[in-house]
Amino acid sequence: MYETLLLLHVLGATVWTGGHLVLALTVLPRVLKHRSTSELMAFESGYERIGIPALLIQVATGGWLAYRLLPDFSQWFVIDNPVSRLVLTKLALLAITVTFAVDARLRVIPRLSEETLDSLAWHIIPVTIVSVVFVVVGVAFRTSWPF
Ligand code: HEM
Repeated sequence: MYETLLLLHVLGATVWTGGHLVLALTVLPRVLKHRSTSELMAFESGYERIGIPALLIQVATGGWLAYRLLPDFSQWFVIDNPVSRLVLTKLALLAITVTFAVDARLRVIPRLSEETLDSLAWHIIPVTIVSVVFVVVGVAFRTSWPF
């Protein structure tokens, strides 16, 4: 059971973080250069179909993995426990990701135009950085590095 959930968590991470790195480092620079909203929306609509399920899998498997490490929920918020700190960091990263995603979906994307493209870029870049930090914090559960 543990191995299966960890495998799903790592597979979800490859989709979520990998997809955002492709978006931020290859698609976005081209889109900004050509001011092409259609190119961005084409990537988004294709990626969304696997990216959103991947994030949901991360939350479900991550919650289970955290519960396995800390079966007492009150321990999740004990700051001097190093494992709780990592779990809380993951939850904070999740809150940041959801805030950016909701703002992009509800406010930026409905009004997307050549003029407002930069605003979407300022959502994509932080979400991509946070997606990499998710992986760094995930690896720290086993290695404690770099914390
Ligand atoms: C997109 C979001 C996420 C990404 C990219 C991600 C990535 C990772 C990675 C790469 C690992 C290392 C796995 C290993 O050691 O082999 C990991 C471990 C872990 N993650 Fe996540 N994670 C995400 C979200 C979450 C969430 C929301 C939680 C819930 C609090 C969470 C909890 C954990 C836990 C507890 C571990 C340690 C598992 C263990 O070694 O037993 N993750 N994560």
